[in-house]
Amino acid sequence: MTAETHSKPASAAGPVRYSTVAIILHWLIAAALIFQVILGWRADDGPKGAETFALFQLHKSIGITILVLSVARLLWKLTHKSPPAPAGQPTWEKIAAHAVHVGFYVIMIGLPLTGWIIVSTSRINIPTILFGAIPWPHLPGLPELAAGAKDAWNNIGHLGHGLLVKFTYVLLALHLGAVAKHQILDRDEVFGHMAAGARPGLKEPRLWLAAAGFAAVVAAGYLYTPAKAKAPAAAPEQSAADELALPDETPAAAAPAATPAGPATAAPMAAAEATPPPADSALKDPVAWAVQKGSHLDFNLAWADTPIQGKFSRWTADILFSPEALDRSKLTVSIDLASAGTGDGQRDESLQGPDFFNTSANPKATFTATKFRKTAEGRFVADGTLDLRGVKKPLSLPFSLKIDGDTATARGVTTLDRTAFGVGQGEWASTDQIPAKIKVSFALTARKK
Ligand code: HEM
Ligand code: HEM
Repeated sequence: MTAETHSKPASAAGPVRYSTVAIILHWLIAAALIFQVILGWRADDGPKGAETFALFQLHKSIGITILVLSVARLLWKLTHKSPPAPAGQPTWEKIAAHAVHVGFYVIMIGLPLTGWIIVSTSRINIPTILFGAIPWPHLPGLPELAAGAKDAWNNIGHLGHGLLVKFTYVLLALHLGAVAKHQILDRDEVFGHMAAGARPGLKEPRLWLAAAGFAAVVAAGYLYTPAKAKAPAAAPEQSAADELALPDETPAAAAPAATPAGPATAAPMAAAEATPPPADSALKDPVAWAVQKGSHLDFNLAWADTPIQGKFSRWTADILFSPEALDRSKLTVSIDLASAGTGDGQRDESLQGPDFFNTSANPKATFTATKFRKTAEGRFVADGTLDLRGVKKPLSLPFSLKIDGDTATARGVTTLDRTAFGVGQGEWASTDQIPAKIKVSFALTARKK
């Protein structure tokens, strides 16, 4: 009888724990938020390289996820009953608990919103693609603001984000302190509100599970390395390997009679050295050419109706080419995008920024061609792939060629659509200031290696 009268008022006052949906959302958001804070520290402190860029992409993705989950959780909370405070809890504690919980909703929604303001008003306009897959818009109205107003909003975003981060530390300390107090000193059911079935005291395994989960999330936040950051390092290795493969194959395939098949396949590099192509048939096999000084690679565009001439001062070309061996000819041009110069320091700096080449994430552009067509006497087209700013697209490069003994001169010009490669983000994606078509031309002199 006593037991019954005891339990009845408790259940009449409300449920003994949060609903399953509220509990799942609580732990999910808690884990995401702690991971997110560590990502924020790492992204903010890191060198402005590819890894930092990728960390920010993830920071934005998780932050927006937290926003969505928190709004869902708030709606759920407003429409479902929460468990009552433990019997006999002092009023100040009830008020404090309520204040901390409200504070949490403020940061859970305020942090992503201020972060969103920062990225929507940034001078260097970086689009947000959640988890690399879902395009997420900027906050409506902000990207279109005039420069002054935009900067003001950007400052508000930074200030707000920074203050809310500090507020989060305070809330978290109070929250965890309160959980410990309830669990260890008061020995009441509060932890059980959020961890179904938990009993008071230090022996409760769910408490240790929560502590281990906390440590695991912190460790994951520090250990996580974005896959994207590894890509630029791997790419040059890949192309170097491709280039090495070619001279190996050529003698083996083209001169089987001169070289015993066995050693050629077993030790292709040795075979290549042992059987230089005979001088008179030199042009029958693709020839390796070394680009000479004075060769240049240029680009032309219009910026607000002003024609602009630019050039890349650092680029390399690996050329294996003979008009008689078009099928085995090969060209790889590697362009150091940070070497782009248009005669205006400020403009060149913005060219390297995330709005244009984004050189920190994609330092190089490469054009690789393995198909060549002859279109007229001394005229050819290289059909290849341009890898620019992480986007690979087919590109045909027509060129004229004159070979005079050991020296070749070639000139070519093509146009490409910068928007297809994402060169020009945010306000620059529109083509009213800078048209989409960019003319790229080269003139080179090469000597037989
Ligand atoms: C950043 C991380 C966290 C956030 C944002 C957060 C947020 C919240 C919020 C807003 C509530 C109130 C319930 C609601 O309105 O839905 C709550 C309750 C609770 N949280 Fe957390 N929490 C976090 C981390 C933790 C951790 C790490 C623990 C345990 C070790 C924990 C244990 C609890 C418990 C036991 C309750 C129930 C309190 C009661 O019924 O009065 N929380 N949390
Ligand atoms: C609950 C979600 C979020 C948390 C907990 C969080 C946390 C943090 C932290 C701890 C920092 C480092 C601050 C410092 O070291 O001073 C940071 C920086 C930053 N966060 Fe977030 N963030 C959240 C959501 C977002 C979102 C959604 C975005 C963008 C869409 C964003 C954009 C930024 C930017 C741009 C910075 C660097 C600029 C600055 O320091 O003011 N954040 N964030």
